[in-house]
Amino acid sequence: MRFDCHPESGASQLNCIQRRCCWHPLHQFDYKKQVHLNVPYCYYPKNWSLYEYENFTKHGNDFSAFLHLKQNSFYKEDLLFIKYESIRVDNTILRMKIFNPSEKRYEPPLPIRINSEANLKKTVYAQYELKTDEYIPGFQVIRASDKQVLFNSIGIGGFIFANQFLQISSTLPSHNLYGLGEHRSNLRLNTNWQKFTLFNADQPPTENANLYGSHPFYMILEQTGKAHGVLFLNSNAMDIILQPAPAITFKSIGGIFDIYFFIGPTPADVLKQYSKIIGKPFLPPYWSLGFHLCRFGYGSLNNTKAVLKRTRDALIPFDTQWNDLDYMDKRNDFTYDKTKFKGLPNFIKEIHIAGMHYIPLIDAGISASEKKGTYIPYDEGVRRGIFIYNANDTLPFKGKVWNFGSTTWPDFTNPESKLYYTEMMNDLHKSFEYDGAWIDMNEPSNFYNGYINGCIPNSLDNPPYLPGIVGNLLSRKTICMNAKQYLGFHYNLHNIYGTSQAMVVNYALKKIRNKRPFIISRSTWIGHGSYAGHWTGDVYSSWHDLRMSIPQILVFNLFQIPMVGADICGFDGNTTMALCNRWMQLGAFYPFSRNHNSDDTIEQDPVAMGKIVIMSSKKALRMRYYLLPYLYSLFYRAHLYAETVARPLFVEFYDDPNTFNIDTQFLWGSCLLIAPVLSEGKTEVYAYIPKGIWYNIYTIEILSSNGQNYTLDAPIDTIPVLIYGGCILPVQEPSISTTLSRQKPYGLLVALNEKESAKGELYWDDGDSLDSIEKKQYILFKFEVINNELKSTIIEGSYNKYMKLGKIIIMGVSKVVKQVFFNKKEIVFRYDKEKFNLEINNLLVDFKKNFILNWTNE
Ligand code: NOJ
Repeated sequence: MRFDCHPESGASQLNCIQRRCCWHPLHQFDYKKQVHLNVPYCYYPKNWSLYEYENFTKHGNDFSAFLHLKQNSFYKEDLLFIKYESIRVDNTILRMKIFNPSEKRYEPPLPIRINSEANLKKTVYAQYELKTDEYIPGFQVIRASDKQVLFNSIGIGGFIFANQFLQISSTLPSHNLYGLGEHRSNLRLNTNWQKFTLFNADQPPTENANLYGSHPFYMILEQTGKAHGVLFLNSNAMDIILQPAPAITFKSIGGIFDIYFFIGPTPADVLKQYSKIIGKPFLPPYWSLGFHLCRFGYGSLNNTKAVLKRTRDALIPFDTQWNDLDYMDKRNDFTYDKTKFKGLPNFIKEIHIAGMHYIPLIDAGISASEKKGTYIPYDEGVRRGIFIYNANDTLPFKGKVWNFGSTTWPDFTNPESKLYYTEMMNDLHKSFEYDGAWIDMNEPSNFYNGYINGCIPNSLDNPPYLPGIVGNLLSRKTICMNAKQYLGFHYNLHNIYGTSQAMVVNYALKKIRNKRPFIISRSTWIGHGSYAGHWTGDVYSSWHDLRMSIPQILVFNLFQIPMVGADICGFDGNTTMALCNRWMQLGAFYPFSRNHNSDDTIEQDPVAMGKIVIMSSKKALRMRYYLLPYLYSLFYRAHLYAETVARPLFVEFYDDPNTFNIDTQFLWGSCLLIAPVLSEGKTEVYAYIPKGIWYNIYTIEILSSNGQNYTLDAPIDTIPVLIYGGCILPVQEPSISTTLSRQKPYGLLVALNEKESAKGELYWDDGDSLDSIEKKQYILFKFEVINNELKSTIIEGSYNKYMKLGKIIIMGVSKVVKQVFFNKKEIVFRYDKEKFNLEINNLLVDFKKNFILNWTNE
């Protein structure tokens, strides 16, 4: 229960007591990790408070109070008056705002939030209770149904509200805490004196480092299996401390306290509630679910073409070719190299004829050193006044990224930037017809720390409290904090830069292509998933990075950014055949599946890696393409209901504590369990299989689990995948691209549970149009099996292309089948007594007509 009263270095008994805190040195050693724990010597006594209530009203869950400062903190400029105000967003979401009632402070402009007033009416049956104490500031949030205290800040830690230091602490109901990205860590976070710093940075993923994005959101699974979530909607740099009480402390260097509580009670409920505040994921184009191939340093169009050709010749399913910045002229955005990439426009036309797609990289920074009149993106940006400015004049802030001379950054909080960027992207699209955008270096990243000689000292770059940022410098590899943006100082807006760019790019792509936008961004902020996806940046080609990619992908699904993947086979460093082999297999099950690597490493496209990798890639990607109708339906559910696509086991099996700490396996939706090989030389996986009936997707063998670990076969060319009994998966014969696979017959893969029943659905549309759901240009099927009868029912929609149903596989039919009828007409079938498997081949009927398939037993 020690809350750190002196987080800065140099704590001593004297200065601790000056802070009215307790001093008691304590060494604790983590024997497992062989490290000293950060147990504070100087800690707040109970009920330590700088503020006092001046006025207090509370009616049920409506709480409003003014407080005044009794005593200063140690962080300069404490706010003299503050206000607490509770807002009932709806009956499952409570918002607590603590702010300056006399002067508006910075609040994040993103995500664009719903109007909470309109929802107040619905909160009559609030599922939460708010408790306060008349004397000690703070509050408690309680779940009404089970009286579980979810958050309690009354008299806990040291509440501080200074101009550049905001601190609030709470005890927590359990250690099962997930979220707080972007970090490299296990999925379940360690609460043993850990610090998580949030500040977007160009930082290759390593443990204990702030990475590319910021997501001050966590979900907790309580001991009872019930879940709740908390969002600290604050975009300033911050530290979040987890300690074993268990308890949490947020320490931010700006803004206000704006905290949302999501009452649950299931993990899926929490995420749905969270999505009401931050928005739901975009519906991706179908082709984006295919395999993507990229690298930094193809160096020329010829080389790009050669890799594309050999991949297609090997018949590896493959949808989208990418180019890194080497396609650009002098590494400048919105240009292309007319020598080395001569013929790019035609190449893209050929790609399109082949039914494939093309994505180029766009860097956040714009070259600021071209001769006037030779580079429109800079000249136009200056003319329109859309760049980020220096603190003390109206000139664009200049640093340097890839451009040869210097770089400046568009300010995407400036409304004018939308038109500017749309024009630049449109001009580029006129020269070659790209299909999506890869936005990079948008933390924003800078090769200097601010200017070439750093930042001129100022209070924003040198705050009284510095969060635990890598390099101990806010401007490290980014721009100075006092640079000016349309909506304020970069200090406040830094963490939203990437998402503000993604929003503009999303708008531009829609305008230009009039089709569904597809964007992959390195930097992210809450709500990002409504506009774009994410890849996990510059991972290393190592077995450890392979393994750690799973929690990363899973946590981004919690953040409502389901379109996420890591660079398959690793980005930095040379991969190996063995590693790339297993990575291609796992990568085939990333929602965003792209092989990409750095310019100073060996070629690692599947064909370059040789026979075994080709074989594995084909097998895994053919399985992916076979399952794409199911994956697409999951993205539809993410888009409408905020459900996860790549799903942690605990989200589904929250009543099984064995799943709480699993992050070496994951699910696709609720139906597929993926258990990859994550270490060298292994051909088996020892995996936890939750209770129930499961089927090996390759052999159809049954595994009836009572909730324990099993050894699964994983020969060199195989990634273990199990189907959960009770599921009906829509599938389609695979092909070498989604354009071709979409023309193949559909199938149903039915996995019966103990009761020999199952359920499923298929969402389908043309895969690329805007607003297919809103315009009702889609078709939604529901499938159900009970009592020897499979029923397919069209729920809604009017997708107008012919859809042929080819094959139905029903697994787990325990009694020998005598006859099978399709719409009452007897049909041929195959039944395998050993495998309990019923197969109907060559059905070739109109899938868009409701049907009943039933069978009788001997
Ligand atoms: C950094 C990105 O993370 C990486 O994927 C890319 O290849 C390089 N920038 C070069 O554009």
